[in-house]
Amino acid sequence: MAKQDDVFKKLVAHAKEYGFIFQSSEIYDGLSAVYDYGQKGVELKNNIKEYWWKSMVYMHENIVGIDSAIFMHPKTWKASGHVDAFNDPLIDNKDSKKRYRADVLIEEQREKFQVKINKEVAKAAKRFGESFDKEEFLKTNQRVLANQAKIDEITNRYVTAMENDDLNAIKQIILDYEIADPVSGSRNWTDVRQFNLMFDTRLGSVTDDAAKIYLRPETAQGIFVNYLNVQKTGRMKLPFGIAQIGKAFRNEIVARQFIFRMREFEQMEMQFFVQPGTEMKWFEYWKNKRIKWHNALGLGEEKYRFHDHDKVAHYANAATDIEFEFPFGFKELEGIHSRTDFDLKQHQEHSNKKLQYFDNEKNESYTPYVVETSIGLDRMFLTVLSNAYTEEEIIKENGSKEQRLVLKIPIFLAPIKLAIFPLIKKDGLPEKAHEIYNKLKYDFNCEYEEKDTIGRRYRRQDAIGTPFCITIDHQSLEDNMVTLRERDTMKQERVAIDDLHKIVSQRIDMKILLKELED
Ligand code: GAP
Repeated sequence: MAKQDDVFKKLVAHAKEYGFIFQSSEIYDGLSAVYDYGQKGVELKNNIKEYWWKSMVYMHENIVGIDSAIFMHPKTWKASGHVDAFNDPLIDNKDSKKRYRADVLIEEQREKFQVKINKEVAKAAKRFGESFDKEEFLKTNQRVLANQAKIDEITNRYVTAMENDDLNAIKQIILDYEIADPVSGSRNWTDVRQFNLMFDTRLGSVTDDAAKIYLRPETAQGIFVNYLNVQKTGRMKLPFGIAQIGKAFRNEIVARQFIFRMREFEQMEMQFFVQPGTEMKWFEYWKNKRIKWHNALGLGEEKYRFHDHDKVAHYANAATDIEFEFPFGFKELEGIHSRTDFDLKQHQEHSNKKLQYFDNEKNESYTPYVVETSIGLDRMFLTVLSNAYTEEEIIKENGSKEQRLVLKIPIFLAPIKLAIFPLIKKDGLPEKAHEIYNKLKYDFNCEYEEKDTIGRRYRRQDAIGTPFCITIDHQSLEDNMVTLRERDTMKQERVAIDDLHKIVSQRIDMKILLKELED
């Protein structure tokens, strides 16, 4: 774990050093859990958005996009249940004065028992070799069974406590399992309390309570309240989807792990409206679609897993998370929820406006059901960045060894696609390099660099994940050929300047990625 912590610390430092992510208002010592994206970060972020948006909106005849306001009528959040129930159970440690989410402490304890089981399995697999029967082992090994029993007990007690809104029972789990403050080791806990995560502010100059509005904690509600506008103006027929990318705000109790849990973040959400009774079919459909979207990036299928919820929210009849193996373990990256007709019905009731669908074929009106896919853009950014960070040893031509730090970002998402270097800063080489830059800049985000040796320039581009570098030398002025160097293989080849556009687009065109998503 310590090693993984080290890698994570290096990643955070790297993200700053190379202009991906800065702490917000850093000159004032920063603002907790709020971050700014730098010159490279914004490019990577935009590319992730493009991949998501095109896969949703351009690739589906029946999905359209919107961009709704962050501020919404306060009744929205009463209707959605956020005013009354968007709470996390918090607990304070009296000695360390640190604040925690009680549910997270319990989840981490459960994970500890799971780690013990995994260790037993790994040990036995090594001991028995080929003849190891994992299923049988899990069913019969006493230590595994004892740990599994604890996991089941915690899960059952936790689910019951949450269902009954019983905060004392949640605290009792923490006491019974002797869960300690991860920082100080103290077990001196306060009672568990509910904490609402919405930020509020006032609209205009009025100070009374009627003017209180919220910064949206999810983008989904902007879609629900526009359901009828889009359905009518777009003449949409069920099933159809509305997609949106935008900022969301949550006053998280504990905001740790860099951009994993932030107080201001971005979501990419899609609500898919379907006929009641067909929602489970669409839930499965979107589970498959979304995992395909992730897998197409080639980060490794073993790094993802589904985690079905033990307890679904009151508005849902099925929910799963796509988890990714971050440097700090498997954690939620995306949620897929079958939200029934809860949201539309709630808005109908609170607004007194009919939010239904007239089905021509059935000749009847009804409230559609909804399947939602919701992914945090910043969390996806962290997925890509943490997976890309690679320290490798390379052997140079003279046989000596060298450390190379390379961001193996999927090339479609790389912030800079092509770095252009004149070998030296004179003899007409910079002019030739600029000529190439000016030709290619319309289609690719290029970077021109003329400082330092070519080797150093390669290293700098490796560190930001640039898939291609080209070097213009004296020979180029005569034969119109340049050296093209590839990031991952470090292979270099001579190519014609006229072929550059074709060679690069054949590799980085997002169309290649989108085609992989087709059924
Ligand atoms: N509309 C459904 C919804 O908002 P959620 O599970 O609360 O569901 C969806 O959030 C996704 O948004 C999460 O899977 C995660 O990727 C991202 N997310 C949620 N809270 C976040 C936070 N504080 N910081 C960064 N990303 C967050």
